[in-house]
Amino acid sequence: MNQKPRILTGMRPTGHLHLGHYVGALQQWLEFQASGQYDCFFLVADAQALTDHADDPQLIKRSVRDVVLDWLSVGLDPKKSAFVLQSWVPETFQLEHLLACITPQSWVERNPTLKVEIQQLKSQRGQTVTSAFMRYPVQQVADILNLAGANKTPILVPVGEDQVAHIELARDIVRAFNKAYGNALPEPQSRVGAVARLVGTDGQDKMSKSLGNVISLSDPPEVIRKQVMRMYTDPTRAKSSDPGHLEGNVPFMYLDIFDLDKAGLTDLKRRYEMGGVGDVEVKERLICVLDNLLDPIRKRRARFEEDVDVFQILRDGTAVERIIAEETLETVKKAMGLNYR
Ligand code: TRP
Repeated sequence: MNQKPRILTGMRPTGHLHLGHYVGALQQWLEFQASGQYDCFFLVADAQALTDHADDPQLIKRSVRDVVLDWLSVGLDPKKSAFVLQSWVPETFQLEHLLACITPQSWVERNPTLKVEIQQLKSQRGQTVTSAFMRYPVQQVADILNLAGANKTPILVPVGEDQVAHIELARDIVRAFNKAYGNALPEPQSRVGAVARLVGTDGQDKMSKSLGNVISLSDPPEVIRKQVMRMYTDPTRAKSSDPGHLEGNVPFMYLDIFDLDKAGLTDLKRRYEMGGVGDVEVKERLICVLDNLLDPIRKRRARFEEDVDVFQILRDGTAVERIIAEETLETVKKAMGLNYR
């Protein structure tokens, strides 16, 4: 049988999705879905979100629905791809344990993404680091390897730059596993999208709710206008007749990514650099570009909110995934000698 390679990727449900998710992940997911070359699995990682949001499980519950509605509204399609709810896949937690038994703690602790997140947890949110949080990288490896099945089906993981360390961990664990117990698991591959990161509307770091520098996919036009009008432009110029600078100029950074009229944009940049173009003209153009992108997404979302049963979609997708995950778990247990009779 000719098995299609599988795609597994996911998001933590901790709020509405924003433009950073769109260019950093969703656009790439849509391409994979449209290519028809893969069996795609998109995971709502609610159990992972709980590792640092146990103080607010209601946020996770709300966000599971919001994330799925956001996925639907950008064009991800449960008829073509499986939408999976992580906490409904018990195999994940069993596989996590088996994999954790061959994962040196030092591999987890050296993970740069985890290090940054621990810092943020402590400094920004004043939270303690839970034991489950220290385990989430191995759990994420289990999310991915669930899809190996019995025949080492190739697995591709489209992710943002910050997730690559997790896929490396998965590869390290697979190599250790295969060496110890025979070649039973495939080494997953990561795929990083073209736009690895979108700066926040304040030009800082990346989009994040807590910094208030976000444009959500479901934001109404007036919020988009407000966020764009607040963007930093060129701090060096006093009046709009002065020559302007493009570097670090947030509206232009966004136009570079979202404006489809490249010739028009090149012309605007040229005029801006010469002097004589006001920031408002640039921002009005960006507002228009973002409205063109987000208006159809917003409309689809409104329709889906009315007539879609999000949890039925998740039940269906999770059922598809679990058939494979059970097969994987059997394979792994057998390789480790845990097949008692
Ligand atoms: N860690 C990812 C995030 O923070 C979510 C995630 C969970 C994931 N399991 C995954 C991503 C498996 C890729 C593959 O968004």
